[in-house]
Amino acid sequence: MSVVVRARPSVDAACADVAPRRARARSYLMCPPEHFEVAYAINPWMDPGVPVDRARAMRQWHDLVDTHRGLGHRVDLLPAVPGLPDMVFTANGALVVDGRAHVARFAHPERRAEADHHLAWLRANLDPTARQSFATSEAEGDLLVVGDLVLAGTGFRTDRATHDEVEAMFGREVVTLELVDPSYYHLDVALAVLDDATIAWYPPAFSVTSQALLAGRFPEALEVTGADAAVLGCNVVGDGRHVVLDHRAETLADDLADAGFVPVPVEVDEFTKAGGGVKCMTMELRPGILPSSAEPTTTTDTTRPGGPA
Ligand code: ARG
Repeated sequence: MSVVVRARPSVDAACADVAPRRARARSYLMCPPEHFEVAYAINPWMDPGVPVDRARAMRQWHDLVDTHRGLGHRVDLLPAVPGLPDMVFTANGALVVDGRAHVARFAHPERRAEADHHLAWLRANLDPTARQSFATSEAEGDLLVVGDLVLAGTGFRTDRATHDEVEAMFGREVVTLELVDPSYYHLDVALAVLDDATIAWYPPAFSVTSQALLAGRFPEALEVTGADAAVLGCNVVGDGRHVVLDHRAETLADDLADAGFVPVPVEVDEFTKAGGGVKCMTMELRPGILPSSAEPTTTTDTTRPGGPA
């Protein structure tokens, strides 16, 4: 698929007074939805009675991979494992900063075994010292890097103790944010990192104290509407310039363009059935530290019919 950038004739005029946004090449880890299904319900989006169209999910996932690669980013693949239907949401598996990996300890037993596969892959390919979190952690689901800062969600999944652990491990300031709406159970479905200093967020997902904290820290933040939050519009991947987001989040796309970003809408709605979207499926390996000479053990894409992409 070629990357479709929204046609917006008025963008150039609207953005004339906005500083140009700069993209930085990224490395991502993704996992094909070979075993994706809604087999249990651990968040309000999930209903095991609603069937998943796995072929459609696979097409949407491949388009997302192609979109990231088309924007110049590297995508490595974590092999899917039978019996772990949520493994497609790699962002929940680890937080990788400065080439060091802090691996998840999932809140629900249904997802617990995913951590072992993340640990093994990260140790083999990226950080031999990768280790699992001591306290419950759902990694980038709740731990979002914004420049030198880590915004950290708690309330449903990630334990507050993990915030201290992450601060100690990476030597970065970690800002605790309290999530209050079960539909927005992870920070990455309530808040979007657009670049090293800019966020978009859905205020009602946060406690009053955390709302005040975010408003104080990010006065330029974009506010996401209830309608866009409800299609997981906050669950985006930004590279500093492009923001890959759910195609249904149209108001957010317009607001991003007005702020000088380039919205890149994609269809990932098959994954809404599990409560996940663009960001959940895209773990970032910071910085892009896989040496180009080294062949990661699992890069080859054998999931597309007809062989490697
Ligand atoms: N069904 C998964 C869960 O409830 C979805 C995870 C989505 N990932 C995310 N980063 N929000 O754990």
